[in-house]
Amino acid sequence: MKTIRTKNNNLEIPAIGLGCMRMAELKDKIKIRTLIEKACELGINFFDHADIYGAGESERMFGDCLDPRTRETIIIQTKCGIRPGICYDFSRDYILSSVEGSLKRLKTDYIDILMLHRPDTLMEPEEIAEAFEILEKSGKVKYFGVSNMNPGQIALLEQAAPGKILFDQIQFSLAHCKIIDSGINFNTNNNEGINCDGGLLEYARWNKITLQAWSPFQYGMFEGTFIGSEKYPELNLLLEEYAKKYKVTSNAVAVAWIMRHPANIQTIVGSTNVERIKDISKAAQFKLSREEWYALYLAAGKPLP
Ligand SMILES: NC(=O)c1ccc[n+]([C@@H]2O[C@H](COP(=O)([O-])OP(=O)(O)OC[C@H]3O[C@@H](n4cnc5c(N)ncnc54)[C@H](OP(=O)(O)O)[C@@H]3O)[C@@H](O)[C@H]2O)c1
Repeated sequence: MKTIRTKNNNLEIPAIGLGCMRMAELKDKIKIRTLIEKACELGINFFDHADIYGAGESERMFGDCLDPRTRETIIIQTKCGIRPGICYDFSRDYILSSVEGSLKRLKTDYIDILMLHRPDTLMEPEEIAEAFEILEKSGKVKYFGVSNMNPGQIALLEQAAPGKILFDQIQFSLAHCKIIDSGINFNTNNNEGINCDGGLLEYARWNKITLQAWSPFQYGMFEGTFIGSEKYPELNLLLEEYAKKYKVTSNAVAVAWIMRHPANIQTIVGSTNVERIKDISKAAQFKLSREEWYALYLAAGKPLP
């Protein structure tokens, strides 16, 4: 598996990680154990969690199924800061208590990467920095990141916790790539030129923050996959053409499209199907040409000014 090095160079991560948001839906521990083992065999030894996935069940089942002897060989990332239906909470005490809950459910004594899940507008950067320091010093968390944050929010945190933010996890796919649209369509009258991300792509590259792409096959949040969807006929035709050319599946081409970007974006796939993950992992074995990359972008319905 292709790997990516983070800004402090201490951490090497696979270009594809496995998202565990849908893991609890499997219910069956044998299936979950197999999923973890097969992913690792493919070099996908990076697992993305959140305290809220499956209301805690995803972390719990993962913890039940992980062979503790393999703990050192995998990277566990989890998130905190969403209190479903109540509020976002980045207070020091809430972060610390969330980590305790995740450690317990995951049955581990450390988390490799802790992310703040969605921006809490009431956040106090100094309080967050204090929580990070306590967690780092106690060995409970090794690295930190954020999710769904714009450059201004990251810079605000960075001021209180210099050098600590290594990741930003955002929705990113062929059907949802606003961070690219706004740059390509800069200063035009195209809707795609509307900058709703604050220049995140350029900020992340400039500051060596690794972007992670969540929902790489979805066209909305809950609507479904664009792969095979009649809403994306042109895109699917082209994905199939390149899939034939590179002897892979459309899913692998969609991930290769993300990997082709020089920003070195890590893709977090959410499949619970071992065969599909095997196919997707082949995205790391070929590289789309510049012309193919742009052709897919256009086929997804995006304009080039
Ligand atoms: N930070 C955030 O706010 C945030 C938000 C959402 C998600 N995430 C993270 O990102 C991860 C990935 O998100 P996601 O699960 O939405 O990503 P995804 O990989 O785009 O979607 C996975 C889902 O699509 C299905 N699927 C994929 N290809 C398909 C195909 N060709 N035909 C039919 N079904 C197909 C999978 O079914 P099978 O299981 O059958 O393969 C699975 O249900 C999550 O697990 C989570 O870790 C983060």
